[in-house]
Amino acid sequence: MDHYAVFGNPIAHSKSPLIHSLFAQQTQQAMDYQSILTPIGGFSQAAKAFFQQGGKGANVTVPFKFDAYDLVQQYSHRAQTARAVNTIKLLENGEFFGDNTDGAGLVRDIKENHNLQLKDKTVLVLGAGGAVSGIIQPLLEEAPQSILIANRTVEKAQNLLNRFDSSIIDACGFNDERLTTSFDIVINGTAASLHGENVAVPSKSIKNAFCYDMMYGAEPTTFMLWANTNGAKQCCDGLGMLVEQAAEAFFIWRHVRPETQSVIQQLRSQL
Ligand code: ATR
Repeated sequence: MDHYAVFGNPIAHSKSPLIHSLFAQQTQQAMDYQSILTPIGGFSQAAKAFFQQGGKGANVTVPFKFDAYDLVQQYSHRAQTARAVNTIKLLENGEFFGDNTDGAGLVRDIKENHNLQLKDKTVLVLGAGGAVSGIIQPLLEEAPQSILIANRTVEKAQNLLNRFDSSIIDACGFNDERLTTSFDIVINGTAASLHGENVAVPSKSIKNAFCYDMMYGAEPTTFMLWANTNGAKQCCDGLGMLVEQAAEAFFIWRHVRPETQSVIQQLRSQL
């Protein structure tokens, strides 16, 4: 039996143990997966102890993704641009490999579950915090026509932009002229929905757009409700992204890709 875990604080409501146990059953992998409530400032110690006791891999969630980035010795390119790690794998030489599967999960959810290609599309990303930093590189790899990162605090969007060497990406604040024209795809990566707040961008930006909120819940999020009543073509939440980023981590550890549709449905029915 191989051991895996998710580290976070808080962690009690994490859906990762359920998702990975469903994946393990489905693909007949001999593994268990537990959640570990980790004290703030205690990530490195807790993770090292877990691996010393035989752990094979781990997921890392808020607020430890940056600590995990500091812990690992090897990174994927997408973890490097995110400067954050959500998946750790113990390598045979004893080193830790760190990856960030959030963006791959988002891209896969949009392409496979919502049947929308990103190639040649105009993409607006709202927010410039930790959630958004993980998705930019995987979005760029889909060769969209453009990516505009818009954030309430424009400096944060500029700082994020500076990590990428690409002519198709730009950054701005919420009162930028460009937000008065519509985009093909609008991704909300702000924490606004979490607080039941609206993102104060012009509604013209989401007219006829495919709108994606990286948050999810039993009910449509604040962003989805706003987008729906302001002319969005289609709206969805981030539950699919959650399951797909987990599937990507599972693949990194086990080299098996689980089927995700049934898992998304099961989680949705339990929200
Ligand atoms: P996370 O790691 O979840 O992204 P974060 O790093 O604190 O969290 O970033 C939160 C993001 O949500 C930021 O982009 C923040 O905008 P600011 O940089 O201007 O603070 C954004 N955010 C939070 N509440 C918001 C709101 N009501 N409207 C617009 N943006 C909001």
